[in-house]
Amino acid sequence: IDGIHTKYDKEIRIGAYDAIKQYKDIVNQDPYRLHYHLMPPVGLLNDPNGFVYYKGLYHLFYQWNPFATEHGAKFWGHFSSRDLVRWKEEQIALAPSSSFDKNGCYSGSAVVHDDQLYLFYTGNVRDEAGNRETYQCLAISEDGVDFVKKGPVIELPSGYTAHFRDPKVWKQDDKWYMVIGAQTEKETGTVVLYRSTDLCNWQYLSLISDEQEFGYMWECPDLFSLQNKDILLFSPQGIEPDGYRYNNIYQSGYFVGKLDYQEAYYEHGAFKELDRGFDFYAPQTTLDEKGRRLVFGWMGVPEENEQDHPTIESYWIHAMTIPRQLLLRGDKLYQQPVDELVNLRTELIEYRHVTMEDNQLELQKISGKSLELVVEVKEHTNKYFSVFLGKTTRITFDQENKVFTLERKSINGEELETRHCHLNKLSRLRIFLDTSSIEIFINDGEEVFTSRIFDDQENDTISFQSKGKTIVDVYKWKLSN
Ligand code: FRU
Repeated sequence: IDGIHTKYDKEIRIGAYDAIKQYKDIVNQDPYRLHYHLMPPVGLLNDPNGFVYYKGLYHLFYQWNPFATEHGAKFWGHFSSRDLVRWKEEQIALAPSSSFDKNGCYSGSAVVHDDQLYLFYTGNVRDEAGNRETYQCLAISEDGVDFVKKGPVIELPSGYTAHFRDPKVWKQDDKWYMVIGAQTEKETGTVVLYRSTDLCNWQYLSLISDEQEFGYMWECPDLFSLQNKDILLFSPQGIEPDGYRYNNIYQSGYFVGKLDYQEAYYEHGAFKELDRGFDFYAPQTTLDEKGRRLVFGWMGVPEENEQDHPTIESYWIHAMTIPRQLLLRGDKLYQQPVDELVNLRTELIEYRHVTMEDNQLELQKISGKSLELVVEVKEHTNKYFSVFLGKTTRITFDQENKVFTLERKSINGEELETRHCHLNKLSRLRIFLDTSSIEIFINDGEEVFTSRIFDDQENDTISFQSKGKTIVDVYKWKLSN
């Protein structure tokens, strides 16, 4: 295999490390840099890849273009951690240096087999005429750091266009399975299922999808079981907005159902969005040693105002979400920050029984840019209740209409924009703020809003407003790593 350790592979790795060195100071001085989220050292980060627990460490790889703040020939960058909170930047895992991945080592996943780490990813190739080719490739490591490319294990089957990518692998009853995001020749989105006994030879089984059409391409599928159901998580493209739903250019969401492994048939319910904010895409899960189903998402969306991000001036763009745990209640996924995140907490400020009635108030020392804020709603006979963060970010629960809203300044700074969801009752808000990002967990993860926010740097005030009466307890921690 003409992969790792070739002259060209070395060259482009050195190029990437040079880019880090060259822009390090500028990147690190950017006031919008986050404090406890994973970000690219330079350039562009997108999807989480290869999320896995291996030999005592969590590994998270990511789509990375070190050479520009635009999409391009992606590398796999790599972080590792003992506790999901403190992360170490590891050496580059994969570089787009081979004939079968020269235009990008695209998204994929990791599994552990015989003490080795197996990475599956999509080799993205453009031929001389600019046409797309796709190869599902394997790379293996003995230590989780150095990977040896084994080349393609799956070629494009008939019936699909070259939009065929993002392999996610798992084990079930002594066999390996893989889902791949695909576009049929009729240009509808779907997911394809493969099976293998040895991780090298793969058998095409079937496509898993609705009879009816749902978008033109499904990216980054992830199939896993949770509480006896099989969840298919994926990111469809080409879905039209529908009321409060599907308001971003591309979505991420899931089906809850049951996969019949014998018949290779997946029966499932309706599509639900996983996150209701402005910036969330391509989530990937793993099962850890504690039996938790964990997820990272990309805090961004492809093509969604990427050129307007102010961090571009400082040679970087995008970040991962905080790590979260997925739980299933009924047929709905709940997302909760992983327990380990409490280790970031310092300097608790708390207020009990704060009563508001047709007024707006600030609480001393409830302010900041890198913090966790918990608001327990004790009583509300209000019309609405709002939390303002900085100048332009506002969270509102409209009790009369049972609507929850996040308002932010648009990335280009020109207007205020909103995302909404229906919510019957607001009992608890848990907000993670990190300079230019916000993650809002409503009622223990029933709904989550993930967004970047580029607000006035100086303004770190937080205030509360109630129309009618609201009584809350407020807790705030500074978060630092
Ligand atoms: C999703 C995606 C994947 C692809 C990768 C390329 O954001 O388009 O489908 O593998 O990004 O970076």
